[in-house]
Amino acid sequence: MTKYNYGYNLTIESYIVFLGSMPMINRAVIVDFGSQYTHLIARRIRELMVYSEIVPFWDADKISEAEAIILSGGPMSVYDEDSPKISRDLLESWIKRGIPILGICYGHQLLAHILGGKVEKGAQGEYGPTYLEIVKDSPLFNGLPRQFKVWMNHRDSVYSLPRGFHVVARTKDTPIAAFENLDLKIFGVQFHPEVEHTENGIKILDNFLSFCGCKRDWKIENLAEKKIKELRRRIGDARVIVAVSGGVDSTTLAYLLKKAIGNNLHVVFINTGFLREHEPEETLKLLRDLGFENIEYVDASERFIKEIANISDPEEKRQIFARVYAGVLEEVAKNLVSRYQNLRYFAQGTIYPDRIESAATGARPSKIKSHHNVVMPTIEMLEKLEPLADLYKDEVRKLAKELGLPECVYKKQPFPGPGLLVRILGKVTPEKLEICRKAHRIVEEEANKWGLASTLWQIFPVVLNSKSTGIKGDARAYEYIVAIRAVISSDGMTADAARLPWEFLETIARRITGEIPGVCRVLYDITSKPPATIEFE
Ligand code: XMP
Repeated sequence: MTKYNYGYNLTIESYIVFLGSMPMINRAVIVDFGSQYTHLIARRIRELMVYSEIVPFWDADKISEAEAIILSGGPMSVYDEDSPKISRDLLESWIKRGIPILGICYGHQLLAHILGGKVEKGAQGEYGPTYLEIVKDSPLFNGLPRQFKVWMNHRDSVYSLPRGFHVVARTKDTPIAAFENLDLKIFGVQFHPEVEHTENGIKILDNFLSFCGCKRDWKIENLAEKKIKELRRRIGDARVIVAVSGGVDSTTLAYLLKKAIGNNLHVVFINTGFLREHEPEETLKLLRDLGFENIEYVDASERFIKEIANISDPEEKRQIFARVYAGVLEEVAKNLVSRYQNLRYFAQGTIYPDRIESAATGARPSKIKSHHNVVMPTIEMLEKLEPLADLYKDEVRKLAKELGLPECVYKKQPFPGPGLLVRILGKVTPEKLEICRKAHRIVEEEANKWGLASTLWQIFPVVLNSKSTGIKGDARAYEYIVAIRAVISSDGMTADAARLPWEFLETIARRITGEIPGVCRVLYDITSKPPATIEFE
């Protein structure tokens, strides 16, 4: 039987299983109160070589091991009726265990509020850069100048501190911009040390980790070897199925497994019909060149296209895609299980942001899209393996490089699981699919020729669901519109539209309208994420 799990799926059970599977290393746990910067805090901590994990606030009482706890920012006021909170008992239990705590923005206010201080609405709030003035020596600001620029984003402020707490910094509009209680090992900062605009922000986080006594033992170097050993120990001489798409995550996962268990690995590559021009052949060649031997190639394109043909709602399209994908994979798995008794595992290339959507959309994350990665089937007879579930995308790229995978793999731009399906708006027709494929080829060729591909998180065309008037060969044309999306981003969670050379955009527009029948207009998308997502659907 197949069970589907749509949406972001961090349950505390999976978190505990996951924590249990990690070797004994120091960890900082970030309690998420809904800030758009929560992932940024986690990434910064990892850059400082301490392993970090994000836990939603409602699961904070399940934190079993932590050398440091950070309370994130969040969009609400501690006085809002439904604002995210943790209990005083929980906070006291961490204090009793001697775990240092740092509150950032909302986290800073929440600490003061819970422990008996006073938070009030500021007269005008403070947004953007301002100067921080240190008024008392603190381990948090060790080695820093007495004044520097920090980035603020708040309306409420802490106005009086709980007993035993001291003010350590202020700004023009915020008298308590940072506080500490060294006996309780608690710090609070009203500004955001994790954002680039805060000078010395990294050093502040570094100082906090040093205060916590965290060992700097999170390194991607040697990770490949550790993961291979762990997988070997867990899998033994059993067989494993892994579905690959040729993308960075699944190819890295498959290669890692191959190094761990050799030919006991079965690689499944499904042609969904929504792949780019020549992608099936190129992916198969890549897999063979990388030395995979048991490759199951399934061309299910007709089945996908038939099921999705009349659907125009984006979520329905994604969900049908996920169902068909799961169905095809399950059939392949059943077939292999009937042939190999020792087939026991199904590996999936889930990465960290797939498991935890930052609560940027509200304290409890709302589902934005059914990401294909997290709607994979649970195949009853197989146990799931997710060896990359603790890594960010850039860490997977480093791992791929360390494993010896070629540049064309570890530098590859992300491509969504449902492929061109999410880049063809409205109903998918053979004509729109053909336009999308041809436009992808042109955009890719030009981006490579201009040396832009490697500087962008992604660049791709999208076929809109509307037509517009144009002139072709002196006659009126009424044809499709193609939009070009190009973004810079460090992790795909937020993104800015790329400022591309005008001549490059003109070349693309000329080639797309000239070489592809049925297109008479090309647009360039200048929206950032948020509010727009990177993909159109
Ligand atoms: P959005 O559109 O949510 O995309 O801003 C963020 C990043 O995720 C990729 N993406 C997907 N990747 N399966 C994937 O494997 C999906 O269903 C999916 N949807 C979006 C997207 O290309 C971008 O890099």
